[in-house]
Amino acid sequence: MADRDELLSAAIFVKERAHAPYSGFRVGAALEADDGTVYSGCNVENASYGLTICAERAAVTAAVSAGRVSFRRIALSSDADAPVAPCGACRQVLAEFAPRLPIVAEAGGTVREWTLDRLLPEAFELEHGKEAEEECES
Ligand code: THU
Repeated sequence: MADRDELLSAAIFVKERAHAPYSGFRVGAALEADDGTVYSGCNVENASYGLTICAERAAVTAAVSAGRVSFRRIALSSDADAPVAPCGACRQVLAEFAPRLPIVAEAGGTVREWTLDRLLPEAFELEHGKEAEEECES
């Protein structure tokens, strides 16, 4: 099991691989699976700006592609002056697998922590949608 600082170190390491020539804003994410394996990802920008992939979603994609769908924690590192929380799209993608995922972020020598359910209360979930539909029908 990676401790908090080890996971942050992995996020800082992968941030160096960010492809961010347009924003100049590098992000690294390290996602710890329930077996202790760490999957990392960096932001990958594109000349067609809208195709940019965030670091968090790159990490999720790497983990799921390796067969991991249960997670303990995600660590983030960015070029900001202070720790930044995942964007809305990444919150929803993380919630697919770990709705209460602990999140630790570092930037500029400061660390902040949240849980995903605090950042994305009442995340969209298809099962809830089905229940709501059934209630409407009855
Ligand atoms: N970015 C991430 O990688 N994760 C986030 O949660 C927010 C934003 C990236 C996308 C883009 O390459 C750059 O940061 C500036 O938005």
